Amino acid sequence: MIDTLRAAFHQQFGDQEELRYFFAPGRVNLIGEHTDYNGGHVFPCALTLGTYAAGARRSDGRVRMYSLNFEEEGVKEFDLFEIAFSKSDGWANYPKGVFQQFIEAGMDVKEGFDIVYAGNIPNGAGLSSSASIELVTAVLINEWSSFGVTQIDLALLAQRAENEFIGVNCGIMDQFSISLGKDGHAILLNCDTLSFEYSPFRQEGLALVIANTNKKRTLADSKYNERRSECQSALSDLRKELDIGHLCELTEDEFAKHDHLIQDETCRRRARHAITENERTMKAVNFLKDDKMEELGALMKASHLSLKNDYEVTGLELDALAEAAWQHPGAIGSRMTGAGFGGCTVSIVKEELLDSFIEETGAIYQEKTGIQASFYTAGIGGGARELTKEEF
Ligand code: GLA
Repeated sequence: MIDTLRAAFHQQFGDQEELRYFFAPGRVNLIGEHTDYNGGHVFPCALTLGTYAAGARRSDGRVRMYSLNFEEEGVKEFDLFEIAFSKSDGWANYPKGVFQQFIEAGMDVKEGFDIVYAGNIPNGAGLSSSASIELVTAVLINEWSSFGVTQIDLALLAQRAENEFIGVNCGIMDQFSISLGKDGHAILLNCDTLSFEYSPFRQEGLALVIANTNKKRTLADSKYNERRSECQSALSDLRKELDIGHLCELTEDEFAKHDHLIQDETCRRRARHAITENERTMKAVNFLKDDKMEELGALMKASHLSLKNDYEVTGLELDALAEAAWQHPGAIGSRMTGAGFGGCTVSIVKEELLDSFIEETGAIYQEKTGIQASFYTAGIGGGARELTKEEF
């Protein structure tokens, strides 16, 4: 990858004495979906798949960017004093938003950069290719300029770029897990306080499998924002009697006693999902620690069903893929992962039955939907960073 980046850099931008290399992973969430913006817990891990960047400094306040994933779009160029969202800039809006947030936070990035990107996360699959390009850009700026911004603050800065510049009202899960990922570990994150702990995920004889529905995630952003406002509306109704800041402050039992306060039936179900999912996530972490993998698998299934029935973000393709996995003797657990509306499932699968899992699940899925799924056995890797010579 580094050789490819270097060659592309020389081709696009000419020779550079000092070229530095950076990486940010994608992420997969084991459980805890649509809980982050409700002040709940999530349990994601960073992947070994991700976005690479090669960058060099300029001195004229301009940024030139080129992506090997979008070669046909050519070089994107902008001035650091005039950063504005532009639909025609496509992918480049993500790094632009990050530059803007550094400037907004009062940091002086005025010299400019030339950057070449290349990623191996499937785009639009719900594995956070956008947060990955945000974080690789954030680390590049931070390291080149020696700003010393912490990994947590880089995650928050990238989230603001996504919220304010891109206009997707996402929570903190993606940027946080991508910034702070750790090799071989999942991260239990309390999205209200940002306290977190690493939990080893190296189960003997088990593989983590990501299956892509290959269904285009149409309208995902607008539906995502709609779910957020439904939760907000449920929260406002509950606050008429309860002194709470977030839905996930309530336990399932407390919610059952007060759910009548929520006027709208749809909003009530949205809130029920967030609250039950938060409880499942906290239980899941303990099951993983105690190596109770069957119990963890049952929670993954319950999570999917809640996302299907109460939150309504799964759809035909994700349901078909998860249901096919549940039938297979090799699957310990399976569920949709990420925002939903298409994208991927995550499954824990017995290694000795991996080939048959992929073959049979894929065949059932194709029969039901007419689409061919893609399967990846995922490695859990480290967070966003500058690459050292040993990693080249
Ligand atoms: C997307 C968002 C996250 C989170 C998930 C759903 O990935 O970016 O903040 O809300 O959806 O869990």
